Amino acid sequence: MPGHQNVGAVSEIGYVSMRTRDLSESIANAVDVFGLHETASDGRKAFITAQNKHHELVYTQADEDAIDHIGLVVSSAGELDAVRAKVDRGGYRVVSEQPIEDHIEQGFAFVGPEGYTWQLYTEKLDYCMRKRGSLTPDRLGHVNIKSRNAPAMRDFLTEVFDFRVSDAIGIDNFFMRCNDDHHGIAIFSSSDLGLHHHAWQAGNVMDLGRLGDRLARRGARLAWGPVRHGAGDNIAVYFIEPNGAVIEYYCDMETIRDKERPARVWDPEDLYWINQWDGQVPAGILDFGVVPVER
Ligand SMILES: [Fe+2]
Repeated sequence: MPGHQNVGAVSEIGYVSMRTRDLSESIANAVDVFGLHETASDGRKAFITAQNKHHELVYTQADEDAIDHIGLVVSSAGELDAVRAKVDRGGYRVVSEQPIEDHIEQGFAFVGPEGYTWQLYTEKLDYCMRKRGSLTPDRLGHVNIKSRNAPAMRDFLTEVFDFRVSDAIGIDNFFMRCNDDHHGIAIFSSSDLGLHHHAWQAGNVMDLGRLGDRLARRGARLAWGPVRHGAGDNIAVYFIEPNGAVIEYYCDMETIRDKERPARVWDPEDLYWINQWDGQVPAGILDFGVVPVER
């Protein structure tokens, strides 16, 4: 991506593939409420994007709401081989030697720690979709996953995917980057597992307001925000999508151009890390999310 300098093998967060018990509701939420585009659908599976990609979000009709897998873009075939070697050395179970979604050039999928499935792939760069004005986010920016062993998940992302810690909240929560975005994956320490939220970059703070307007017109509302995070500096709003995952819409995230920038470590008692304005989190918001598919 122009302007994005990789830290290691992974160049960006590619897509989130989820299962949903109500495909049409999930598509309607993504397209009508959130302003994304549906690029392909066969009635069982839908591919959805903000712009310039075939998909950044995939929904599959299923009997359960779940996170199927997370797609990470690898910058070259050589880097893909290097990650594959680390996956083999780590003894992780490869579940597909081929891309498990359409419109991917090369890739493989494996089950990592705590049952999360990862698709590593090189992109086909032949897709162009124009942004629908301010209704549409710029792109998928990051995912936030829950972990029962956050330090081990941090080590996995560091060793296998070359992520680096941007901010650490004690030893419980880690914000990790693969390029100059402050974080591409965040890990929340939790007694349950799952994708808590997927987050999309807005052009500016007014777009966050317009999302609030669209939700209100439908009799819905933001679940949290706007807030100014301390870790990442982004202004963000959150709402719940039909399958129970949380969607974040954010702008103004910190850019880290120095690959060697050391991790900023927060005292967990200092709640400024989560919200610079009031240090508060709404009750119950962390209980949302979708569990990993068992393979
Ligand atoms: Fe987030």
